[in-house]
Amino acid sequence: MTSTSDRTAESTAGLPRFPMPRARGCPFDPSPVLRELQRETPLARVELWDGSTPWLVTRYADQRALLADPRVSAEMAHPDYPRQAPGIGSLGFIGLDDPEHARQRRMVGAAFTVKKVEAMRPAVQRIIDEAVDALLAGPRPVDLVQAFALPVPSLVICDLLDVPYRDHGFFQRSTRTLVHRGSTGEQRAEALGALAEYLGRLLAAKLDDPADDLLSGLSARVQAGELTHRQATEMAVLLLVAGHETTANMIALSTLLLLRHPDQLALLRDSADPTVVTRAVEELLRLLNITHGGRRRFATADIEVAGQVVRAGEGLVMPNDIANRDPAAFPDPDRLDITRDARHHIAFGFGVHQCLGQPLARLELELVYRTLFRRLPGLRLATDFEQVPFKHDGFVYGVYELPVTW
Ligand code: HEM
Repeated sequence: MTSTSDRTAESTAGLPRFPMPRARGCPFDPSPVLRELQRETPLARVELWDGSTPWLVTRYADQRALLADPRVSAEMAHPDYPRQAPGIGSLGFIGLDDPEHARQRRMVGAAFTVKKVEAMRPAVQRIIDEAVDALLAGPRPVDLVQAFALPVPSLVICDLLDVPYRDHGFFQRSTRTLVHRGSTGEQRAEALGALAEYLGRLLAAKLDDPADDLLSGLSARVQAGELTHRQATEMAVLLLVAGHETTANMIALSTLLLLRHPDQLALLRDSADPTVVTRAVEELLRLLNITHGGRRRFATADIEVAGQVVRAGEGLVMPNDIANRDPAAFPDPDRLDITRDARHHIAFGFGVHQCLGQPLARLELELVYRTLFRRLPGLRLATDFEQVPFKHDGFVYGVYELPVTW
């Protein structure tokens, strides 16, 4: 174990910077530096954009243990929290600890249970069918991101919240600013302010005209004095942003990966066994990990990790992309094998903050894979793979454009 005096003598000069770039030509794989750290130094100091030096935790078992540990805090507004970028403060309950986190999460949790989400299956299928109809009726080649991957989850979350889809240009643009690593603190604050003002207005309108949707539910909580208007607005922003940006990137990135693996795509498209698609959803989530900036936390007490002690107040960064490639948890981890059982991946996080929307994301991905490749069996890339612009500069990984034809 590292002693306190060793630790004080440690210098922060020359520490690896996080995030680390992916290797050239391997855009689906985590950085080779992360691999080496996982093998050799599973708890390593890194330097972030602001000069802070939290611990980087790379092994699957260590990440799961920490994410489930009540001595670890997700309080984003706390000075010890290792922030992803300037201008990122707390956003709804994602940046709070229990019991307040649990109290707020419960207020919207009922809409995302497996049973509630299952009841949305016909509506989600209709949205996907109509999007594929539009693809078939439109020009070729087409950018699958703009024509399919973004509209599908945006329409679904708009329905659930009762946000008018006609405003998608505005909320998708603001989200892009929020998740772009190059945005300044001011740009991010402005985008967040615009989203908050927009959703705050919609929430206020629900006071007079409530219906059966999530914004009406939040507005009723405000009226009952259980949430402030600001808390409800932040929750609405969190749900709108997390509800479309993540799944959209997952749809486009996984489609591209499948196009690069025609054998796996054929298996997914042609199998009569319905479990093939549900397994493929998990395997693609495991392999692609679009929230690649890592789960961020800090220790509130001394905690032993990988044979060393993380002290109270020290930051923790846990990239799930490398955890989901840990050979100790997934044999032959870099191979795409849609038949493997990958359900224990942590692409949705782990512990109390694990993704609230995961049943919905799973349903959307399942129905997209069931529909898109069967209705467009000749789907193929309409540009060189090397020309596809990957989101190396985003907090959410994916591709900016995916030109396809069929
Ligand atoms: C493929 C799609 C998605 C991926 C990969 C994903 C990933 C994640 C991850 C990794 C977390 C954990 C954050 C942490 O521990 O710090 C999270 C939290 C969250 N996600 Fe998702 N997500 C997806 C889709 C969705 C959707 C469709 C919604 C719907 C509204 C959603 C809403 C949320 C919310 C509200 C949280 C915060 C949960 C909490 O703090 O208790 N996500 N997501």
